Amino acid sequence: MGCRLVKNLPKFAQLYIILVSLLALILLIYFYSKINLSLQTLSALIFFCLLATVTNSLKVYLSKGGYVTVTFAVTYACVLLFGAPLTAYIEVIGMVLSNIIIKDKSPWYKLLFNCGQSVICVAAAQFAYSYGGGINGNVDTLNIVPLMMSAVSFFLVNSMAITIILALVQNMSPWEIWISNLRWTFPNMFTLSLLGILMAGIYSHAGYWGVSLFFIPLLLARFIFKSYMDVREVYLNTLEALASALDAKDKYTRGHSERVARYAVKLARELKLPEEQVEKIESTALLHDIGKIGVNAELLSRSGKLSVREYDIVKLHPVIGANIIKDIHDLGSVTDYVRHHHEKYDGSGYPDNLHGENIPLGARIITLADSFDAMTSGRSYRKEVTFEEAIKEVKRCAGTHFDPLLAEVFINCWQEKVPWIRPNSLVEVVSGADK
Ligand SMILES: [Fe+2]
Repeated sequence: MGCRLVKNLPKFAQLYIILVSLLALILLIYFYSKINLSLQTLSALIFFCLLATVTNSLKVYLSKGGYVTVTFAVTYACVLLFGAPLTAYIEVIGMVLSNIIIKDKSPWYKLLFNCGQSVICVAAAQFAYSYGGGINGNVDTLNIVPLMMSAVSFFLVNSMAITIILALVQNMSPWEIWISNLRWTFPNMFTLSLLGILMAGIYSHAGYWGVSLFFIPLLLARFIFKSYMDVREVYLNTLEALASALDAKDKYTRGHSERVARYAVKLARELKLPEEQVEKIESTALLHDIGKIGVNAELLSRSGKLSVREYDIVKLHPVIGANIIKDIHDLGSVTDYVRHHHEKYDGSGYPDNLHGENIPLGARIITLADSFDAMTSGRSYRKEVTFEEAIKEVKRCAGTHFDPLLAEVFINCWQEKVPWIRPNSLVEVVSGADK
């Protein structure tokens, strides 16, 4: 089973995992020769392995994939107290035991890679700590330079290792992965490194009992964060369910909202918008056509031409949609994104004939994403066109239908073969009929 899973990985990803694992193995053999296994070391090993196992088992899964744990605080405290040799073994044992306890179903090579990259991170953190003048065991919490050098080294090596594997597996640019996934983990790592320093200081002065007591607020913080993430998960699932229910009404719109949201998010990230705004654009892109709930389904799916009166009814859907989402807590401030997703840059759109930058940026982004998907997936009244033809249309309509700057960014992504915009990265676009 293991081999079959590895066969599904790109060759370079397999090679990379082998290299990381080999390097970690060499380090572990070297570290083994450096450990003096006294009774004191053994009891520290058991105690911190237990902590690492518990923290590794308490993963808080994030809505966009990945998870966070508070393990880094334990790892970092161990680096400062015992150095890399013992910490590397604590890391590996903690990861393996927690995988067994939570019955993690992930492929075995994922655990191998995670253990491998953790050992390398621990080595890098120790190297930076010693290089900066830090002394293991005697943690001087005021000697900030080696402490910070060590934490930053861990973060850099860790994020680099993960960015490379994700880039190889997902065939995406490392920069794109860094921006969307890892940049946001830095404040988390910073906070945990402070907790790690505190934990090392408490262990030096109050031993195991001190660390055990310190662990209670750490678990409480994790519980509060998990509750927040659970509520957020329910919220996002509800938005997706609403969008899917709407798309399911018509075979032409199946998957449409999800793809529009994906295009819009990528476009927003290309523009380097703040993550909070990106999230709002994603939510409103998912719900951009929610107002169609209030429009007769027969009108929406009719293949023939609509009368002027009938078209006027269809044109009400952005206003109805904006009214529907105005009471959703997170989206109250961005109902304009939905209301104006059919405005055109030259002012000939609806419902308010806004033009240029009077149209909110989020709405301009959704307009482009919506139109591109409508062109490439076809409608009851119009056949789909190829991706190349749709890009030509985006170019032709830059400055009239679309914001010229956004159109340029979109076209550049296409020309630079950025994977998110290519048809082969969007399986459902190729295989599914949609609206
Ligand atoms: Fe619409």
